[in-house]
Amino acid sequence: MHILLTLAATALALPTIDKTSINKAAAVPGESSLFTTYAGKRTPLASNYTVAIPATDPGPPEADDILFQNLLAAEWGIYSFYQQGVEAFSAENFTSLGLPNSTYQRITEIRDNEAGHVRIFQDEITSASIKPGPCSYNYGFTSAAEYLALQVFLEVSSMAFLTGLVRQATTNDTRSALVAIGQVESRHNAWSLIDVYGVSPFSGPADTTYPYPNHILELTTLFLTNNSCPSLNPVYPNPKPNLPWTEFVRNGTTAAPGADIQIDGKDYYAVYFHGVNNISVPFDEFDPKSGVIIVVIADEEGAPTEESPSELTLLI
Ligand SMILES: *[C@@H]1O[C@H](CO)[C@@H](O)[C@H](O)[C@H]1NC(C)=O
Ligand SMILES: *[C@@H]1O[C@H](CO)[C@@H](O)[C@H](O)[C@H]1NC(C)=O
Ligand SMILES: *[C@@H]1O[C@H](CO)[C@@H](O)[C@H](O)[C@H]1NC(C)=O
Ligand SMILES: *[C@@H]1O[C@H](CO)[C@@H](O)[C@H](O)[C@H]1NC(C)=O
Ligand SMILES: *[C@@H]1O[C@H](CO)[C@@H](O)[C@H](O)[C@H]1NC(C)=O
Ligand SMILES: *[C@@H]1O[C@H](CO)[C@@H](O)[C@H](O)[C@H]1NC(C)=O
Ligand SMILES: *[C@@H]1O[C@H](CO)[C@@H](O)[C@H](O)[C@H]1NC(C)=O
Repeated sequence: MHILLTLAATALALPTIDKTSINKAAAVPGESSLFTTYAGKRTPLASNYTVAIPATDPGPPEADDILFQNLLAAEWGIYSFYQQGVEAFSAENFTSLGLPNSTYQRITEIRDNEAGHVRIFQDEITSASIKPGPCSYNYGFTSAAEYLALQVFLEVSSMAFLTGLVRQATTNDTRSALVAIGQVESRHNAWSLIDVYGVSPFSGPADTTYPYPNHILELTTLFLTNNSCPSLNPVYPNPKPNLPWTEFVRNGTTAAPGADIQIDGKDYYAVYFHGVNNISVPFDEFDPKSGVIIVVIADEEGAPTEESPSELTLLI
């Protein structure tokens, strides 16, 4: 028996092409350079895929359609972040910070991968369900340095919700697809840690699993422009946890030790999810370290139920 294993052929660099003659509508993720090495500023996506696509089949929906609708809605935000970066910057914006001259190229390649994820998730949603379209996203970056910090946050969030979504999957194909996508997000993060931040790309023996992915998905709505989603789009995330959260805390000040978060006289815990475990610290002993941290503030140690987190805080 012959087994032919195809690995990502990084050594066989495909030529970078930015020609309108590429048939974007027919491009298949994994087969077309549009989703790997396309260097153009314009989106790799054909215009009939950058809209909400109505259901065409009376149904019933497949069991994992809602999972992929959530994932596609999240992916539009992530893809848009990179598309905005490709449009806003050129190589000099990064080389002027002393970064490698490949930095801009890598961002376009990640944009291509994320566009491929959009197409993969659209295809995973059956024709009995709506395929959500893109909204407007405001990431608020004003410089290349801020952009690169947000990039790490988005990739870390992606890994946390992808590992969590595995728990909602009903088919083995879905579970495997989620792991495969998570590995690519992890490569994007590893690239940044090595080339941009010049630090070790390793996070330890396991990346972080967070069992309540809809919480992280809800956190991504921070970047959504109000009322900008196509009217056809289903609620996102579905179901919506409606978790209160502290604002996007770049400076850690609202959750700093000694900050007053006494709510209804209860004891609160900062619950860190790290690797496959979690660690609870009484809130008044909470000492945020630098880096990108997502902490759950819960009224029970270990945040053992989906409802126990009272709040999700993002510290950058
Ligand atoms: C997009 O256009 C291509 C080429 O015309 C077609 O094959 C494909 O089915 C279209 N997809 C959607 C979702 O309309
Ligand atoms: C980066 O710089 C090297 C050495 O100066 C050069 O050979 C290479 O073509 C540059 N790459 C890009 C993408 O500009
Ligand atoms: C990128 O660099 C150009 C040229 O130096 C500059 O005009 C532009 O404002 C920079 N873009 C951003 C988003 O910082
Ligand atoms: C998933 O794979 C396992 C192991 O091959 C198999 O036993 C199980 O039936 C599969 N589950 C589904 C839902 O297909
Ligand atoms: C967007 O909506 C939220 C929640 O309804 C509201 O708190 C916020 O002020 C709105 N933002 C803008 C810019 O209108
Ligand atoms: C962080 O917050 C402190 C206290 O409010 C403030 O003095 C400091 O300037 C802030 N630092 C940054 C980088 O925003
Ligand atoms: C956190 O860890 C504790 C102890 O292992 C466990 O009981 C709890 O279920 C974990 N919390 C979550 C949300 O997985």
